Amino acid sequence: MTQRTFSIIKPDATKRNLQGAILKMIQDAGLRIVAMKMIRMTKEQAEGFYAVHSDKPFFGSLTDFMCSGPVVVSVLEGENAVSSYRQAMGATNPANADEGTIRKSFALDIEKNSVHGSDAPETAAVEIAYFFNQLEIVG
Ligand code: CMP
Repeated sequence: MTQRTFSIIKPDATKRNLQGAILKMIQDAGLRIVAMKMIRMTKEQAEGFYAVHSDKPFFGSLTDFMCSGPVVVSVLEGENAVSSYRQAMGATNPANADEGTIRKSFALDIEKNSVHGSDAPETAAVEIAYFFNQLEIVG
């Protein structure tokens, strides 16, 4: 089933100039980039995006981190895109991520974990609409 998911290459990765390496792993996983831009999130944008985590102890630190540098937001399309991107990313905590995954290769710790991917098709639709309008999805 062709599906879309939403991706963020996080500030820890853009700071280390890893955008290209991570996008290559995304494409090698069979996902097509159908929309993409580099932005710097405001604190308010980061708080809105991660609102579901607002009661977590790491919320303040996470939202500070997410606006500490540029991020690459993109829409990925492919067969079972949500689960195939989650597989390509590896576990949230890089200590638990499988060999060959993006987080095992590049993440620094559970917060600075280099990438975000939607956890379900419904979440993907909300996350895509948070950063992109229909005209920006071109693939
Ligand atoms: P992400 O997949 O973007 O979803 C929520 C983010 O919160 C997660 O990746 C991490 O960057 C961050 N985070 C920080 N601490 C934790 C934690 N203890 N558990 C889960 N996520 C955390």
